[in-house]
Amino acid sequence: MADDQQLEQELAALLEQEWFEPPEGFRARARITDLSEHEAAERDPVGWWERQAKELDWFEPWTTALDDSEPPFYRWFSGGKLNVSHNCLDRHVAAGLGERVAFHWHGEEGEKRAITYAQLLADVQRCANALKARGIGAGDVVGIYLPMIPEVIVAMLACTRIGAPHNVVFGGFSAESVAERMEFSNASALITVDGARRKGKTAAVKSTVDATMGDLSHLETILVVRHTGEACEMREGRDLWWHDALQAADPDCPAEPLDAEHPLFILYSSGSTAKPKGIQHTTGGYLTGAAWTFRNVFDVRPESDVFWCTADVGWITGHSYIVYGPLANGATSVMFEGAPDYPEKDVWWRLCQEYGVTIFYTAPTAIRTCMKWGAEHPQRHDLSSLRLLGTVGEPINPKAWAWYWRVVGGGRCPVVDTWWQTETGQIMITTLPGAQAAKPGSAGTPLPGIAAEVVDNDGREVQRDVQGLLTLRHPWPGMLRTLYKERDRYLSGYWERFGAPTYFVGDASRQDHDGYFWVIGRVDDVINVSGHRMSTAEVESAIVSHPKVAEAAVIGQSDEDTGQSICAYVTLRGDLEGDQELEVELREHVARRIGKLARPRRIIWASELPKTRSGKIMRRLLQDVAEGRELGDVTTLRDPDVMAQLSRSAEARGDDG
Ligand code: WT7
Repeated sequence: MADDQQLEQELAALLEQEWFEPPEGFRARARITDLSEHEAAERDPVGWWERQAKELDWFEPWTTALDDSEPPFYRWFSGGKLNVSHNCLDRHVAAGLGERVAFHWHGEEGEKRAITYAQLLADVQRCANALKARGIGAGDVVGIYLPMIPEVIVAMLACTRIGAPHNVVFGGFSAESVAERMEFSNASALITVDGARRKGKTAAVKSTVDATMGDLSHLETILVVRHTGEACEMREGRDLWWHDALQAADPDCPAEPLDAEHPLFILYSSGSTAKPKGIQHTTGGYLTGAAWTFRNVFDVRPESDVFWCTADVGWITGHSYIVYGPLANGATSVMFEGAPDYPEKDVWWRLCQEYGVTIFYTAPTAIRTCMKWGAEHPQRHDLSSLRLLGTVGEPINPKAWAWYWRVVGGGRCPVVDTWWQTETGQIMITTLPGAQAAKPGSAGTPLPGIAAEVVDNDGREVQRDVQGLLTLRHPWPGMLRTLYKERDRYLSGYWERFGAPTYFVGDASRQDHDGYFWVIGRVDDVINVSGHRMSTAEVESAIVSHPKVAEAAVIGQSDEDTGQSICAYVTLRGDLEGDQELEVELREHVARRIGKLARPRRIIWASELPKTRSGKIMRRLLQDVAEGRELGDVTTLRDPDVMAQLSRSAEARGDDG
């Protein structure tokens, strides 16, 4: 088609351009238009963060802004007292904004619910009282396993109101994963749902949870939201319907004044071993970081903007930029239950038009998928309300960047590429959209109050344009405080390598001659599938738990759509032979153990895995085979013949498409 050809040409022309200055129409009314905040923060980072913290409502002021007497256990705003739900709800309602919409919720089948700040506050108080009635209080961990429905927001805020750290598990993880995370975090309650909807189908949730959760003695309460009407058994004395519990609860629940360092939530994320890490964030610093970055990276005017972050609340992106950043600022957001291609591949753009979305935040993998579906889907809708676009989760390839800029943003909207992690809690490296030009493929520069540096293996800063390890050189308010009940792992994973205050990120990166950071990818055994972090060890251990499997090695194979995809080399027990049927069975097995997102895209049968003489699996070689590259040095292998068999096996099988 002529249109397609014209678009290709336009994109090719855009790709020639290195810099994209903030469009004039945008800059003219942007919150920040120069580097003065960066400069002020550089002169006095702690004082600068203190000024940002003062934008929140504190019940009691802090005595020490940054307590670094016990590195790397940093404390921010010590002595101060505040409450997150108060900052996200009460203070806006008190300021007369109760009727402002917090969320335009859009259900999978097109249902609409506009939820105001006043309504949220009412529900949150009842939910908090319902939890209290079950004996849950400050410090008790509450698990949350819910789809993208308004109740998930109510549940999270209710926890913050009483100081019960929440532990949200992404709805796409399996019930077994949930059980494991409830066990690790010693959760006293779980808030879940009867069933979930996905593309016109429903799936039972509560009954699968029951099958795995039965014997966790510390789990004394399960609160169940009725959503799909799926049948579920309610265990006397433990299980309660959400609507009954909220109705019976007292409507008033004052917000508990909590210490700035009170644990706010735990969020499990993949590490380089099979056991996920319980990343722990606290109250005052996290909210300061989420609130400032939301307002300024997305240039938000709460009275007029409509923000939409397409992530799931079960990830840190959802915690910081669906829930806490937007609500702390009194903003209005869209919350969508469904998939981007249901009922049609244009649903995102239809919703942008319908709700007048002004700021849109998504992942590069989603942009590449939309690109593949074709520009006609966004082009069918009026997207003129959009004024700013953002990406997160992985490096964006310049072609996808240009498509996003041109087709979605119409060339009017700055694109911010935001680099951060579950651990950092808040966006760390990006461009302030009214002040800094973007370079497609580069996230940009550290935000005000953040210090990043690329170093060599010994921790010495490398020269510009040279690749090295990304580090963060100064504590920041939103940083993780520890790993839940794994203090040593916190020390060894992030601080041992270079010594506090230098935080080891785990990403390779380079900084160019203009000071812009180009993040390349992980340097550990963590892979990034569609912007989701997966541990190779976790997938390996799920595969090996299958009775027919002797050994498995998992690598991340580069993938055009998802960035990386999971490729598993599997050795079977005895004389068993791998076939298509077993392949399907193994994939399902992994889905049951971890979740669908961890299913290997490709399985390669191996009679043996390439190991060094000391028995270490040589993943580099597995990567070469999977990606069809010439093999590197194989002389350190115990048995160099293994490689020939693997290469044959890899060629014999394609992927599952
Ligand atoms: C890892 C963190 C923070 C929310 C999403 C993922 C990669 C994240 C970018 C980006 C290049 C990125 C890094 C990082 N990553 N954003 N804009 N450019 N890489 O959170 O699951 O904690 O993963 O995602 O490798 O270390 P996460």
